Amino acid sequence: MAKHKVIVTRRWPESIEQVLAEEFDAVLNKNDRPFSAEQLRSALGEADALLPTVTDKIDASVLDVSEPRVRILANYGVGYSHIDVFAAKSRGIVVTNTPEVLSECTADLALTLMLMTARRAGEGEREVRAGKWSGWRPTHMLGSKLSGKTLGIVGFGRIGQKVAERAHFGFGMNIIAFDSMSLNESVLSRCDGEGVGTLDELLKRADFVSLHCPGGDSNRNLMNRERLAMMKPGSFLINTARGEIVDEEALASALSNGTIAGAGLDVYAAEPKIAPALAACENAVLLPHLGSASLETREAMGMRVLENLRAFFGDEQPRDLVTS
Ligand code: DGY
Repeated sequence: MAKHKVIVTRRWPESIEQVLAEEFDAVLNKNDRPFSAEQLRSALGEADALLPTVTDKIDASVLDVSEPRVRILANYGVGYSHIDVFAAKSRGIVVTNTPEVLSECTADLALTLMLMTARRAGEGEREVRAGKWSGWRPTHMLGSKLSGKTLGIVGFGRIGQKVAERAHFGFGMNIIAFDSMSLNESVLSRCDGEGVGTLDELLKRADFVSLHCPGGDSNRNLMNRERLAMMKPGSFLINTARGEIVDEEALASALSNGTIAGAGLDVYAAEPKIAPALAACENAVLLPHLGSASLETREAMGMRVLENLRAFFGDEQPRDLVTS
């Protein structure tokens, strides 16, 4: 039987590319250059499956090909706000993602950013590398502790829950959480946490605010100027979710005016572009979308895509079907 043709839009860990090449007629992207909209459109007409990721904007216009051959968009990643799932469905194309396997790594990175911002690790590293460190002194680069502070988690899904566990059991933080859908009460009570009824209440009470809600239009600029102003003076904002959730110009003003003490960001509205006003803020720690970036996790994400493809082409329902 002829193998199904799959097109992979970026380089994946080698071990996973090998399995893809064994099981499928796989077209790999050896030079790792992101696809243009035109290349995405051609791929939709040529392959049985397209394996995109966050750097591929698959909107209604890209999906508007006259004769799509692709029947499944097996996304490499948990977030899928770069795909118009509704438009895909209306053309009979199934969308899957890779949840669970990256929750721990992404939660670890949220904690990394909390520590880096609170303890001014980015500033310190820049000072050392620039040869500007004059030596130990009692008042040098004083930051804030995590222990005993209140962490407000916005979006209490898998990743938000892992952040709560790490922050509570690892750092003795008090947890409050807001989720517009529902709160996992058992995880919350295990962490001695408290659910709050509104985002505004969370912002007024938290020393650290960590974002774990989905991106896309529904949460675009959720953290706008007004909401940033509600945060406590001396507090920190952490974003490992999606860039569009934060109004970056408003955040840059809040950081430079001292409305909040710092921000730790892994994601940006127009990746890989960084708003110049944000890059100018010493009290912002800026990472290049590393949330799931451990070899183990990136391999597990690839295995999850494989699992979804095998199920789909075996006429079973894929485990990670995304709904619009
Ligand atoms: C995810 O899995 O959503 C990561 O942010 C990469 O897309």
